[in-house]
Amino acid sequence: MKFFIDTANLEQIKEAQDLGILDGVTTNPSLMAKEGISGAEAIKQHYKTICEIVDGDISAEVLSTTYEEMIKEGEELAAIHPNIVVKIPMIKDGVKALKYFSDKGIKTNCTLIFSAGQALLAAKAGATYVSPFLGRLDDISTDGLNLIEEIRTIYNNYMYDTEILAASIRSPMHIINCAKIGADVITSPLPSILGLLKHPLTDLGLAQFVADAKKLG
Ligand code: E4P
Repeated sequence: MKFFIDTANLEQIKEAQDLGILDGVTTNPSLMAKEGISGAEAIKQHYKTICEIVDGDISAEVLSTTYEEMIKEGEELAAIHPNIVVKIPMIKDGVKALKYFSDKGIKTNCTLIFSAGQALLAAKAGATYVSPFLGRLDDISTDGLNLIEEIRTIYNNYMYDTEILAASIRSPMHIINCAKIGADVITSPLPSILGLLKHPLTDLGLAQFVADAKKLG
């Protein structure tokens, strides 16, 4: 399973990269705004910097919502770096844009996926990734993991190449459950990734080993 970090924060991206387990980065307009990035040139420069830190797929989301604008914007984003993946919302014009970029060999990530039908359409249009938002479904008392399972079944049935990129991760358990289901990728905030490290028995065991090591001289 590939690990992407879901942030536009350069320090957190560097920390995950230094850990040696990072395969890519996802961002969205809200994450960019949180870092105070604004203006087309600043946004492009930020993506360029992320591409210099991480050698993997970097999702850059279009800000427009019409087919023509998404094509123009997506082409500009794709020109920033070969690792840029154009992130397109799951709307009617977005499906058309996915097909356009797929035909041109430009990687895409179809975002805001909340149903199996949407994931099926995105795969038909040739999306490289689909991003089901499991945390946001859980937030409204709907089983987000069940959606990941449904998409896995559908993609397996027809051997779609589209990769399931489980998004809107809220906890280490989300990551573990996505791995059990067979999501191809998780994109997660740094704390949930680091949460996988923790176990009190590891800490207790290490403290004992360190204490005993001192007796060995
Ligand atoms: C996915 O690509 C999105 O950027 C992200 O995972 C959304 O997460 P949130 O629901 O925590 O905002």
